[in-house]
Amino acid sequence: MKSLISQLKKHSLYDFPVKDVSSTILNSEIQENIIKKYSHFSKSMYTRNRIFRNDDFEIILLCWLPNQMAPIHGHEGEKCWFKVINGSLKINNYSIKSLAPLELNLEEKITASEGYLDGPADIHSVENCSNKPVVTLHIYANPYDTCTVYNLKEKRIDKLKMNYHSIDGKLC
Ligand code: SIN
Repeated sequence: MKSLISQLKKHSLYDFPVKDVSSTILNSEIQENIIKKYSHFSKSMYTRNRIFRNDDFEIILLCWLPNQMAPIHGHEGEKCWFKVINGSLKINNYSIKSLAPLELNLEEKITASEGYLDGPADIHSVENCSNKPVVTLHIYANPYDTCTVYNLKEKRIDKLKMNYHSIDGKLC
């Protein structure tokens, strides 16, 4: 993890070049003890477990129980990647067709298994459709605390405050 953090600090000097950051994340080995330290699951929803944050980027471990999902949301124009550490998730990527009334185009459906690197993401939903817990590592450059949620059923756009379930391995 120390090496990933120091490489990302170097990338921050160049505004996180997509190709270089992608290969850094793809090639970084996340040790078992790190995964264990930051993996916290909750029955109520997927959890966001903060590993590192500075003004330029953050690293979060997300833990997903079966059927837990992140609704269709955007990434506030920031560069966001995630890598599947274990298990398998479904990602739906969207583009905006119209904002009023709200209509999105479903562009792509991806089944992301261990080792898969997603990003930089735009508008997507992420769901653990499997019957096993899933862990994913997310890099957000820059960090942000609210995101836009696209509610297609109610044709509404909401701002959602993003919370951490744990910080530095300790429950919030
Ligand atoms: C989140 O950070 O809570 C959502 C996961 C994602 O957008 O990849």
